[in-house]
Amino acid sequence: MDQEPVILALCCHYCAYAAADMAGSMRLQYPSSVRILRFPCTGKIEVNYVLSAFERGIDGVMVAGCLEGGCHYLEGNLRARRRMERAKQLLDEIGIGSGRLEMFNLSSAEGPRFAEIATQMHNRIVKLGLSPLRRARSEVLSGVAVMAQASAAAIAGETK
Ligand code: FES
Repeated sequence: MDQEPVILALCCHYCAYAAADMAGSMRLQYPSSVRILRFPCTGKIEVNYVLSAFERGIDGVMVAGCLEGGCHYLEGNLRARRRMERAKQLLDEIGIGSGRLEMFNLSSAEGPRFAEIATQMHNRIVKLGLSPLRRARSEVLSGVAVMAQASAAAIAGETK
């Protein structure tokens, strides 16, 4: 691959984001291709949001939430899993491929696992190659910034 992929890690605030933070504090290495966006809960992530990431040329998306039974909004992560299954079907139908999207569950204490799944996702996307919808890197990174505004708005809405 001549260009590094761009992968979004859509993390819930309570577990996955905390685990990513822990990975950072422990100075664990994971690929810089993975850009973390924080959500109050994975249950706030709509199929359209994920599809718009691919539309912007992002190469892969990982959704990371609390362990099943551990969601702070009770069933948000279960709802997210159903939505991501639907999104995967759509990605197959439109030729982008379901392999570019994956959902993971982890606890806030799993910093090393966060680094591991981020690396796993990076390796998978490298194997698949850049997205068929890939644009110039600067455009893709602007897309990430737009996606980040939406996640920040979701977090702000939750803390009002
Ligand atoms: Fe973590 Fe719902 S709060 S997935």
